[in-house]
Amino acid sequence: MVARVPETARIPSALLPMRARVAHRRQGPDDVATLSLCPVDGRLAPFRPGQFNMLYAFGVGEIAISISGDPGNADSLLHTIRDVGAVSHALCQLQPGDMLGLRGPFGKPWPVDAQAGRDLLIVAGGLGLAPLRPAILQALAMPERFRSIILVVGARSPTDLLYPEQLRDWAGEPALALSVTVDRATPGWSGMVGVVTTRLARALDRCDPANVSALVCGPEVMMRHCCLALEDMGVPPDAQWISMERNMKCATGSCGHCQFGADFVCRDGPVFRWDRVAARLRIRGI
Ligand SMILES: Cc1cc2nc3c(=O)[nH]c(=O)nc-3n(C[C@H](O)[C@H](O)[C@H](O)COP(=O)(O)OP(=O)(O)OC[C@H]3O[C@@H](n4cnc5c(N)ncnc54)[C@H](O)[C@@H]3O)c2cc1C
Ligand code: FES
Repeated sequence: MVARVPETARIPSALLPMRARVAHRRQGPDDVATLSLCPVDGRLAPFRPGQFNMLYAFGVGEIAISISGDPGNADSLLHTIRDVGAVSHALCQLQPGDMLGLRGPFGKPWPVDAQAGRDLLIVAGGLGLAPLRPAILQALAMPERFRSIILVVGARSPTDLLYPEQLRDWAGEPALALSVTVDRATPGWSGMVGVVTTRLARALDRCDPANVSALVCGPEVMMRHCCLALEDMGVPPDAQWISMERNMKCATGSCGHCQFGADFVCRDGPVFRWDRVAARLRIRGI
């Protein structure tokens, strides 16, 4: 006799990974790999810029990784991963043809559509360009909707810049005012030097700060300094958004692992409006 699985024991589909295959892999910069994935068990739900998937390295574990592909291209499922520990290391080692588990997309997106008519400022520090790339591509697909689109990208050094070819393409994109800066120059670098916050005033010199909406992503300290600097310049705190990272387990708002004050990052974020989280970011350990 076949035992019937009670209704309550069935795993909700949001917790059940589907299999995906690595179609392409790109190494760099340094300890970062970008994987292009193809689902094996059917189609994925469309994602919105800023959302993330849970990627499962079989036998090792599962972590949250932002989706970095083009939201206008359903076949482009890109994830850019920094090798910082057991799971990210296993994912970064995957080669074309290898399989992994995937579930998602999860989380609240960058509110790109809602910024129509405004100056859209996007500020990316280091790996923060990965979760912002879909938002930039979305904005560039409809540039007439915005008064202007401004992108400020920062990295520790020229070799740490993510997506160098994409940055070269964007430099020639008439709808985008791009500014790239590095903390430390290396021989051959003729671009700007200094942390991203030092570029903000220049980037906004033709804008009325009250009309600027900012999407900011990078290390927490960088996001905090950027948003405070933008506030000082007159950009309203309720027109700035950041993306938070916390350890995740369920990604569905059930387990509490990703609690951040009154919010769960997986359910209420990862994209938060700055004025909602600014005070919390001052408290260590939250
Ligand atoms: C919504 C969301 C989106 C994310 N998007 C991405 C993404 O696009 N690409 C990506 O690479 N990561 C991303 N992360 C971070 C990623 O989930 C963590 O880095 C992951 O937990 C690492 O797991 P691990 O087992 O490899 O390392 P762990 O064993 O968890 O950590 C190993 C060591 O690395 C440190 N560490 C953990 N995370 C980071 C970090 N982010 N930076 C530096 N040191 C760290 C830990 O403190 C620890 O000392 C995202 C996280 C969230 C919540
Ligand atoms: S990861 Fe379980 S509540 Fe967010």
